[in-house]
Amino acid sequence: MLRLLLVAIISVSLPLFASGSVEEPRIGVAVYDFQDSYITEVRNAITACSEGGIPVTIVDAEGRQQRQNEQIERFIDEGFDAIIVNSVDRTASGVLIEKCRQSGVPLVFFNREPVKEDMAKWDKVYYVGARAEDSGRMAGDILADYWLMHPEMDRNGDGVLQFVVIRGETGHQDTELRTEYFIETLLDHSIPLEKLHEDTGLWSREKGYEVMKSFISRSGDAIEAVFANNDDMALGAIEALQEAGYFGSRGYMPVIGIDGTPTGRAALENGMMLGSVFNDAQNQGRAAYLLAVELAEGRIPTLDSIGYEIVDGRYVWIPYQPLPGRNAV
Ligand code: GAL
Ligand code: CA
Repeated sequence: MLRLLLVAIISVSLPLFASGSVEEPRIGVAVYDFQDSYITEVRNAITACSEGGIPVTIVDAEGRQQRQNEQIERFIDEGFDAIIVNSVDRTASGVLIEKCRQSGVPLVFFNREPVKEDMAKWDKVYYVGARAEDSGRMAGDILADYWLMHPEMDRNGDGVLQFVVIRGETGHQDTELRTEYFIETLLDHSIPLEKLHEDTGLWSREKGYEVMKSFISRSGDAIEAVFANNDDMALGAIEALQEAGYFGSRGYMPVIGIDGTPTGRAALENGMMLGSVFNDAQNQGRAAYLLAVELAEGRIPTLDSIGYEIVDGRYVWIPYQPLPGRNAV
């Protein structure tokens, strides 16, 4: 009798054990900082896509690369089948790729682009992102159109556009390229330029506020426009400008951001932000998740299987879109 019972228990528990440990693929997601507004939108998009599909485990590096390395090691040790990474420091990607290559766990980076040499270290490495130079151009076009239609924007009447830049994190491709192409685009429109100040606001609203406050105390009405590398910093800048009397007695100040976050869009609608550029969090999250699903299941992703074009066998580019606000022309 006892023997019979034991056999019964074993035969019931075996298939359970097998499906629990071997069959179910899992995807790990390592995010650089849960406090980042735009990345939070991408993170939510990944979670939404995973509902009903392969589950994701999402971890927060809190801005520390060392912590992220440990989190990724844990994913590997625990037998995760693919890892999606938003690296803290994109120059650290080479080490992560090497680790994953040795353990055979495919990687999908997003938002913080590894350098080409690192991407070339292994063929099971993908990147989902947007072409930063396009966002710089679109932001530049919105400001150029406004300048050409609004002579009063030239506060000191010298024919030169005096502007300030609130930059994202130093070394981030979006910081460097957005700023470079924004300026190049204004020059392409033959607008004489003078950059009064630039400083980093580290993608954060609070920092954007502080940086703008200091620009205002240094240059005040000499400033004729503000370009922030993202919406959060633009919103911080608008707060500082408002406190100093702009959008009221000191007149309108054109402020441009990038991302088109929900709060950013509200500021476009009420006219406080002149323009922004839509950085498509839904599609970035979705593409990263679908790539990871294919890789986790041992397939090579294709346009047909994920619905996004894969450039050079590695890159999915999600397009930016200009978002002129209600005050833009
Ligand atoms: C940018 C985005 C910023 C910030 C950054 C983080 O693409 O515009 O708001 O989220 O990525 O890496
Ligand atoms: Ca001027």
